[in-house]
Amino acid sequence: MIELLYLLAAVAFIVGLKRLGGPRTARSGNRIAAAGMLLALVVALVDADILNWGSVAAGLAVGTILGVWGAVRVQMTAMPQMVAVFNGLGGIASALVSAVAVVESGLIDTPIETTITIIISTLIGAVTFTGSFVAFAKLQGLVTGSPLVFPGQQFVNATLSVIAIGSGIWLLAGGDESAYWFLGAVALVIGVMAVIPIGGADMPVVISLLNSFSGLAAASAGFVVGNNALIIGGALVGAAGLILTVLMTKAMNRSLGNVLFAGFGGTDAIAGTGDTATKPVKRATAEDVAIALGYADSVMVVPGYGLAVAQAQHAVRKLASALEERGIDVHYAIHPVAGRMPGHMNVLLAEADVPYEQLLDLDQADPQFPQTDVVLVLGANDVVNPSARDDPGSPIYGMPILNVDRAGTVIVVKRSLSPGFAGIDNPLFYEDNTLMFFADAKDALEGALSALSQV
Ligand code: TAP
Repeated sequence: MIELLYLLAAVAFIVGLKRLGGPRTARSGNRIAAAGMLLALVVALVDADILNWGSVAAGLAVGTILGVWGAVRVQMTAMPQMVAVFNGLGGIASALVSAVAVVESGLIDTPIETTITIIISTLIGAVTFTGSFVAFAKLQGLVTGSPLVFPGQQFVNATLSVIAIGSGIWLLAGGDESAYWFLGAVALVIGVMAVIPIGGADMPVVISLLNSFSGLAAASAGFVVGNNALIIGGALVGAAGLILTVLMTKAMNRSLGNVLFAGFGGTDAIAGTGDTATKPVKRATAEDVAIALGYADSVMVVPGYGLAVAQAQHAVRKLASALEERGIDVHYAIHPVAGRMPGHMNVLLAEADVPYEQLLDLDQADPQFPQTDVVLVLGANDVVNPSARDDPGSPIYGMPILNVDRAGTVIVVKRSLSPGFAGIDNPLFYEDNTLMFFADAKDALEGALSALSQV
C-alpha cells in the first residue's frame, strides 16, 4: 500500500510537471504536484517510526510560517534569490539525511551501494548548499556580483575536487566516520569556490544548475533511506533543472563551460552602470508616444527586466486595452531570457490577465517586426541589442535577439542610457527609427495612456 501511494505521488509529480509546460495549465499543474508532495509526506510520516511528533509539528509550523512569509513578501524580481535559498536548503537536507545514516550506523556493516549513495548525496548536497548561498548573496547584493578570480584558482579547485574524490575512495575502502566528515567539509568549500568566480550576470544559470544538483542529491538520499518517492522526485528535479540550464545557455548563445569557467559579466547583476549619453538620441514625451501608438495599425510590446522592476504589468495591459478599443492589433514578443528567470515575463503578464494568445515567442514574433508599425520596448535592453547580430566583437554576439529595429518605429522606455544585464551599450538607442522615452516604465505607460485620450 505504501509503495502504491508513493507511485501515485510520483504520477502527480509527472502530471504536474507536464502541466507546468503551458500558461493555461500551469496553476493546476502546480496544485497537482503539491498534492503529490503532500501525499508523499503523509505516507512517509505514517510509514516511519516517528518517536517525537512534537518535533515534526514544530518543523511543519516553522516551514509553514517561512513559506507563507516568502510567498507574500518576496518580490517577483527577487525570485531567483529565493529559488537559490530553496535549492541550498534542499541540498543540505539531503546531505543531512546521509549524515544521520552515518551517525546511526557508524558505517559498520554498511553495504557498498549504500556507502556510494551516502558519498554522492553528501558531496552534491553540500556543494549545492554553499554554492546556492553564494549565488543568493551575489544576487541580493550582499557580496559583489563581479567574478572573484585569483591566480591559480583553477588549480585550487581541481585540487579540492581530487581531495573530495580521494576521501570518497577512503570511505569506500573502509574509512571510518572521520573520512565522511572530512568529505562533507571539503564539499562545502568546493561549493563556495565553484560559484565565486562566476559573475552575477550568470547566476540564474548557476541557480538552475544547482537546482538540478539538489534533485540529484535528493535522489541519492532516497537510495540511502530506501524511499522511492524521494528517488523519483529527486530524479525529476535533476532532469528538469538540467534541461532548463541547457535551454538558458542556448538562449544566451553560451556553453555551460563558458558560464562556469569564463568569469563573464564584470558588472553587477542587479543594474547596469555607466552612461553613454554622449551620442545623440531622439527623445520622446508621453504625447509623442501616444501619437505614434494611436495612429498605428499594429503594435508589438517587448517587455524586459525593467517592466518587472517597475511592476508595470497592469499599466501595460491597460494601455494595450485602450489601443485595442481603437482597433489596433497588439501583441507581446517574449524573448526566452527576458528578465531574470525563465518565464519571468509570462508570469508577470499573466498576473495582469494579458490574453495568452497575444504572447508570441521569439520564433513567432521575429518575422513580424518588418510589418509592425510600432514596437514598444519596455525595460528591455540586451534582448533587443542589434550588436548580438551585427558585431562579432560583442560579448553577446550570436545570442538570438528580437530584431525590433526592423519595425517602422521603435519606442524604447527606460530611465537612462545605462546598459542592461550584459553591461554593454545598445546601438538600437541611436537608430533613426528609435524614439527614447526616458522614464520609469509604469509612469511612462500611465502618461502615455492619459495622453492617448487626447489623440
Ligand atoms: P536587461 O538587458 O537587463 O535591461 C533591463 C533594462 O531595464 C535596463 O537597461 C534598465 O535601464 C531598464 N530598467 C530598469 N528599471 C527600470 C524601470 N523601473 N523602468 C524602466 N526601465 C527600467 O533586460 P532584458 O532585455 O530583459 O535582458 C535580460 C538579460 O538578463 C539578458 O542579458 C539575459 O541574458 C540575462 N539573463 C536572463 C536570464 C533569464 S532566464 N531571464 C537568466 C540569466 C541571464 P535603465 O537603468 O536605464 O532604466
